[in-house]
Amino acid sequence: MMQYTEQELARIVNERDEEELYELHEKIKESKYRCEYHIQTVTGLMNDPNGFSYFNGKWHLFYQWYPFAGYHGMKHWYHVVSDDLVHWKNIGLGMKPTLNYDNYGCFSGSGFVKNEFLYLVYTGNHKEEDGSIIQYQMIAAIDEENHLTKLKRPIIQPQQGYIDEQQRDPKIFFENGTYYILMGAQNEEKQGKMLIYKSSQIATGWTFVSELKVKGYDSFGFMVECPCIQKIGDKWLLLFSPQGLEKEEEAFLNAYSNVYFVGDLDLETMTFTPDGPMKELDKGFDFYASQTAFQAEQNDKAILEGWFGCSDYSYPVTESEGWAGLQTLARELTIEDGKLIQRPVKALGTIKDELVFDAENGVVTKDDMRRRMLDACVIHLDNPGNNNVGLNLFATDLKKGFEISYDARKKTFLISREALVNQMNTDFGTERKITLDALKTLDIFVDHSAVEIFINDGETVMSSRIFPTKEEHKIRMSGKDINLKIWTIKPAVEDDFVIFEKGDDDGE
Ligand code: FRU
Repeated sequence: MMQYTEQELARIVNERDEEELYELHEKIKESKYRCEYHIQTVTGLMNDPNGFSYFNGKWHLFYQWYPFAGYHGMKHWYHVVSDDLVHWKNIGLGMKPTLNYDNYGCFSGSGFVKNEFLYLVYTGNHKEEDGSIIQYQMIAAIDEENHLTKLKRPIIQPQQGYIDEQQRDPKIFFENGTYYILMGAQNEEKQGKMLIYKSSQIATGWTFVSELKVKGYDSFGFMVECPCIQKIGDKWLLLFSPQGLEKEEEAFLNAYSNVYFVGDLDLETMTFTPDGPMKELDKGFDFYASQTAFQAEQNDKAILEGWFGCSDYSYPVTESEGWAGLQTLARELTIEDGKLIQRPVKALGTIKDELVFDAENGVVTKDDMRRRMLDACVIHLDNPGNNNVGLNLFATDLKKGFEISYDARKKTFLISREALVNQMNTDFGTERKITLDALKTLDIFVDHSAVEIFINDGETVMSSRIFPTKEEHKIRMSGKDINLKIWTIKPAVEDDFVIFEKGDDDGE
């Protein structure tokens, strides 16, 4: 890891830094690992999605952003916009620390649309002179020109009984005429909890209600980050990122997990009653802090965006280039037969370009790839006979590259980064496995340093970062009677350098 001083990591971006950031962007733009259809940090480090909303006819997403290097530092918000959740445009700096209350970072938060404004509730990470941290919940709003105004005082003060430094990530929602905020916290016994506040208005009058009780659970690890709640049809989806869950054989293996329950929410008693056990939203190596957005007229579905990374992970290859972090592809969430289904958003179909490989019932009818792996492609597989399947992406003649395999007899589906040259975060293991009774379909999205696998039409998703070297450029495939198609893709996400044009925050 490169060495940065605390002072360097506490830098707040300013117009006079534009030249420096431009140079940094010029450099990272050339990286082999920059993506063509994933939201990627403009410079420096990106983490959680924030303020994800449908506003003024477009999808707006912000991300936690440290502009100057590929490490966690002073948190800003960067703003991107899309018409279809696939083609994203860089809008510029969304929010930066300008107040005493957020003097040590504008931490994560959520969005809520009302009248002509997108309200953004976020955590003001405040550092005292003695170095101690206190977290306040703050509010800002952007207008239709993306001009941001912050309210200068907190809407929620630290709650007694919980650690001042561990109360954050407000998720605002509206139900039965009342606004609610759900947020993560750690109590004095070092347990992870979720807190609920309510108000009859967005910007004032917030009062503490209680902890959110989740039936069957007392607490979640030592801290809950980024809770989010979303009504889908007549069910509620509760998702959150607890820290310190106990590892199981096939679950909670990442440094921290992003989990969910489907169930019912009783706002009288502040009780969430899950229909089933706690599950991970993603079974791959890199996924955290996801949040939902929705369109009011489509209440039977929602959209999910997640950080394609995790706290305490490092991605040495791009860190040394001056950047780190992606967002995952947008997923459409539905609840079908009581189960959460996560499908790539429909508009992703539009990025498919040329069909370069085609096999029908195991017989190759087209092969323009000649075992050469594409840096970015879309792969679809049908396995009507439920046979064994093997795919080795970015392999060499001797090494397996990124391994994807299904063993129909053992009923295990496995991904492995073990054989890749560039290793990372190996303390958390090099393979992920799930029990899978039948492998019917796979939709795989490969984008330079990202592999997202949707299994059986959105029943399970596995997301992984990889950093293949130039020498790792082969693809191998096996599977009796399978249908397999591979397409090249049309780039969908801009890599433009925009910081100050819009969204420049004067802290008013
Ligand atoms: C989760 C998180 C949040 C916090 C933000 C700071 O990754 O730690 O809890 O608000 O990141 O960047």
